[in-house]
Amino acid sequence: MSQDAKESTATAAPATDDGNGDALENLLHENRKFAPSAEFAANAIVDAGDYADAAQDRPAFWANQARTLLSWSKDFDQALDWSNPPFAKWFTGGEVNAAYNALDRHVENGLGDRVAIHFEGEPGDSRSYTYAELTEEVKKAANAFEALGVTKGDRVAVYLPMIPEAVITLLACARIGAVHSVVFGGFSADALRSRIDDAEAKLVVTADGTYRRGKPSPLKPAVDEALAKEGHTVENVVVVKRNGEPVNWVEGRDKWWADTVDTAPAEHTAVGHDSEHPLFILYTSGTTGKPKGILHTTGGYLTQTAYTHKAVFDLHPETDVFWCTADVGWITGHSYVAYAPLVNGATQVMYEGTPDSPHQGRWWEIVEKYKVSILYTAPTAIRTFMKWGKDIPAKYDLSSIRVLGSVGEPINPEAWMWYRDVIGANGGTKDNPAPIVDTWWQTETGAQMIAPLPGVTATKPGSAQVPLPGIAVDVVDELGESVPDGHGGYLVVREPWPSMLRGIWGDPERFKDTYWSRFEAMYFAGDGAKKDEDGDIWLLGRVDDVMNVSGHRLSTTEIESALVSHPSVAEAAVVGAADETTGQAVVAFVILRGDAVNNGEATVQELRNHVGKEIGPIAKPKHVLVVPELPKTRSGKIMRRLLKDVAEGREVGDATTLSDPTIMQQIAESLRK
Ligand code: WT7
Repeated sequence: MSQDAKESTATAAPATDDGNGDALENLLHENRKFAPSAEFAANAIVDAGDYADAAQDRPAFWANQARTLLSWSKDFDQALDWSNPPFAKWFTGGEVNAAYNALDRHVENGLGDRVAIHFEGEPGDSRSYTYAELTEEVKKAANAFEALGVTKGDRVAVYLPMIPEAVITLLACARIGAVHSVVFGGFSADALRSRIDDAEAKLVVTADGTYRRGKPSPLKPAVDEALAKEGHTVENVVVVKRNGEPVNWVEGRDKWWADTVDTAPAEHTAVGHDSEHPLFILYTSGTTGKPKGILHTTGGYLTQTAYTHKAVFDLHPETDVFWCTADVGWITGHSYVAYAPLVNGATQVMYEGTPDSPHQGRWWEIVEKYKVSILYTAPTAIRTFMKWGKDIPAKYDLSSIRVLGSVGEPINPEAWMWYRDVIGANGGTKDNPAPIVDTWWQTETGAQMIAPLPGVTATKPGSAQVPLPGIAVDVVDELGESVPDGHGGYLVVREPWPSMLRGIWGDPERFKDTYWSRFEAMYFAGDGAKKDEDGDIWLLGRVDDVMNVSGHRLSTTEIESALVSHPSVAEAAVVGAADETTGQAVVAFVILRGDAVNNGEATVQELRNHVGKEIGPIAKPKHVLVVPELPKTRSGKIMRRLLKDVAEGREVGDATTLSDPTIMQQIAESLRK
């Protein structure tokens, strides 16, 4: 990345200016509405009363949720302390243990025999854990981690696949007050190491590997590679045996899960931690090259994740079977796999593998097998299933489904309608299709912020619609003024919320700069949005240099840094180009160094692999285009808008501000060659 690229971070124009204008206009002509059925509304867990209560006294509303949904070992004195903005404290003076709330208390309340997790492995193995069994596993893991010297406040890096041990590890950390930092298994050794270093992790929990599309897929080698260079803080690596592939072993450092956790005592008493005690760090990409360690704390996070899980999914924990398909490496897997479903005493499904292994009906087979009633997934998955065709889900009985959730990126109305008709109506065999809740939120917000309530809101295909009770979201213009209905602008949050990030690990200034400096006294989320004539909110995508690929956040700058770290690359610019399935796809434009040889496809592959090594396979550009120049303004800013036009095959927009107006032509010619 050149210096110029660094400067082109974006306080840019609202998303309506990013070249997607037409698609967005179409979206806003969408006027179908689906009211909840009378039966659904009558049985709904939450009614419109919550909006009224929250409007009357927001902190009191959340205090009430905190006391209703959680068991506090010491009650709190104050709901919200906002005396030092933007650093909020929620439920001050209170003490609460996340693992006790997710586990022990359900067992104490006579629910020990309820299934907490139905685990489905990719090869077809399955295991179920009751609340009593899961509690015992977590107690053992807590004892084992303590025996390895992990104490309250220590950081634990977690690099695990979607197996129950991931949830067990997170809850064991929470139990003893250790701060987990999960690194998604699709990130590289380099990315893992930088996150281990930033958080100064003492312990790493990993597995030999997992399965991907029927084949063993390794994880432990990346941990070995990450720790090969001295100078790290890791004392031990606990390794779950999952696929049985041979692994390297560092005596003294590495311990099998079976030898440490399985043999540990099953008695462990949970003590309450301060409401503001750090619960976890989760790294996410921002507009610069360095990922941000988003910090979440305990009481507020648990309150809002539990409330939203109950209200937005209309959770009836005695009868529902919840399935969130997100990996525990992302915030969705934290909030709606590891924490909220268990805090709410629900039964959930956890699936290790890919949707097409061993066949394209795997998910629907799982829904049928466990009678999943609430399904929470991402638009990219829905669009993939659309591509595969409705005949595949039609082979299965999906009649158990009664609520459908969407998260991670805007869901286009076509995908929304397909989700409703094919999955929510079981291919037209159900009179009352399952309501769809499109949920907007972020790693930083910790829990859902904008979503319909399925028993209350008449839903609209493509819109996340309304801020949840107790959440003060708005759309504002350049000056921070609220826009009238029918207008677009920037999405902001005006008041603190319980599960908000408490900062960026080790960097309070960056926290203020990133989120609180664009608009006075408002949290700026980085998204463009529009209010329709009813005041409903439509999300329009990021307005900064952040891409959304398959619902995963990637930084253009981070990928540009990775590319220019390759000896052949002089300069790079990356854009997120519209992609039918993944929402956006990474497209890189690179200028090779004078002495580098362009070997065509081989060079492209090498650069893709280089990004894979630097960041991880998820960040590999779909296309790498070698060009002679990059379009820049006279002040040196790369005009990514023009590159996006090229990447999306559009006629190139207004290029008159370029320092050299012929550059776009040169690029077009070089790509025709
Ligand atoms: C960004 C946050 C929230 C968990 C998954 C992603 C986009 C998220 C929606 C939605 C439109 C959405 C936003 C946001 N986003 N949900 N329902 N409609 N856009 O978490 O990696 O922190 O990314 O994802 O652009 O800022 P994340």
